[in-house]
Amino acid sequence: MSLPPSSRFRFTADLTICRILNGMWQVSGAHGAIDTLRAVDEMLAYHEAGFTTWDLADHYGPAEDFIGNFRRLFAARYGTERLAEIQAFTKWVPHPGRMTRRIVENAIDVSLSRMGVERLDLLQFHWWDYSDESYLEALDHLADLRQEGKIRHLALTNFDTERLRIIVDHGIPIVSNQVQYSLIDRRPEARMAGFCREHELTLLAYGTLLGGLLSEKYLGRPEPRRSELNTASLQKYKNMLDAWGDWVLFQELLAVLQQIANKHKVSIANIGVRYVLDRPAVAGVIVGARLGMAQHLADNARVFGVKLDADDLGMIESVLARSRDLITLIGDCGDEYRS
Ligand SMILES: NC(=O)c1ccc[n+]([C@@H]2O[C@H](COP(=O)([O-])OP(=O)(O)OC[C@H]3O[C@@H](n4cnc5c(N)ncnc54)[C@H](OP(=O)(O)O)[C@@H]3O)[C@@H](O)[C@H]2O)c1
Repeated sequence: MSLPPSSRFRFTADLTICRILNGMWQVSGAHGAIDTLRAVDEMLAYHEAGFTTWDLADHYGPAEDFIGNFRRLFAARYGTERLAEIQAFTKWVPHPGRMTRRIVENAIDVSLSRMGVERLDLLQFHWWDYSDESYLEALDHLADLRQEGKIRHLALTNFDTERLRIIVDHGIPIVSNQVQYSLIDRRPEARMAGFCREHELTLLAYGTLLGGLLSEKYLGRPEPRRSELNTASLQKYKNMLDAWGDWVLFQELLAVLQQIANKHKVSIANIGVRYVLDRPAVAGVIVGARLGMAQHLADNARVFGVKLDADDLGMIESVLARSRDLITLIGDCGDEYRS
């Protein structure tokens, strides 16, 4: 399998990514037990299929170590000169409190060492509490570390538009914001996407497949009980679905998506990913990968052959128009982590 050129996106002047990123929260342990050797081995299959970009975080269990192991395996097989083909985007999610240079640099050094790199391709910063404005202090130190060469590019995750504006006005060189974005959570469209376009920033989307709920597997199925939702991801997005509407409306959405998927000879998941990839300011969609446990590489590759037309979008809108307004209910991007 090889992906078409449309699968690639010039994320920054010096980094081209696969528009479907491989999400590594799924190796954290909260989505089933992962076998390290099998998982790292399978990372090679993702790369060879064209899925060269990884999304991870300091707190996703062994994810950063997996990148280190994967890079060693990759270098042994293909030579160190080809390591530049891999893009690994990590996050720093600190506990609130004072953000001294020493605290910030220590955290970055740990990620560098675990991932076995001299420079982080992308460091995405998360902050839990806006009433504590030391996030600006942390970002100032991160910007210095970028100047000094430990970080290639700085980014954010789960920041709202108001704080993104403050950060940009503060002169911090941000390239992207990672936010929840799916057919049922279109909050980024309200304010975030417009701001990003104005300031030449991009969005990386997560939660697009609702942890797997957005698939044939749940079409025509009775509403799953909590105990049946066996990953942290399924539980998270079932809550989001309940805020958005209910299981009956979700079944209507799945039925419409299946009609569209049948027309294009692809899967429901493909339509969900394509929809978000086509939204303004979206650079890529992160699809969670339970490495060594479950694999959807061939199916996800089909996203790049789909072109949604006006009829498809109209059918989708006819269902989505009947959902609740998550901006009113939850707030802007990332507010679900703070309310
Ligand atoms: N910044 C943040 O706060 C934040 C929060 C959450 C996630 N993320 C990032 O986003 C990534 C994605 O995670 P997510 O929780 O949002 O999950 P997701 O991508 O919505 O769902 C992942 C699950 O979807 C299923 N799937 C994948 N491809 C499929 C296909 N073609 N057909 C049918 N099912 C398919 C798989 O389920 P099975 O494994 O059961 O087959 C997979 O485990 C994470 O790994 C992480 O990198 C970031």
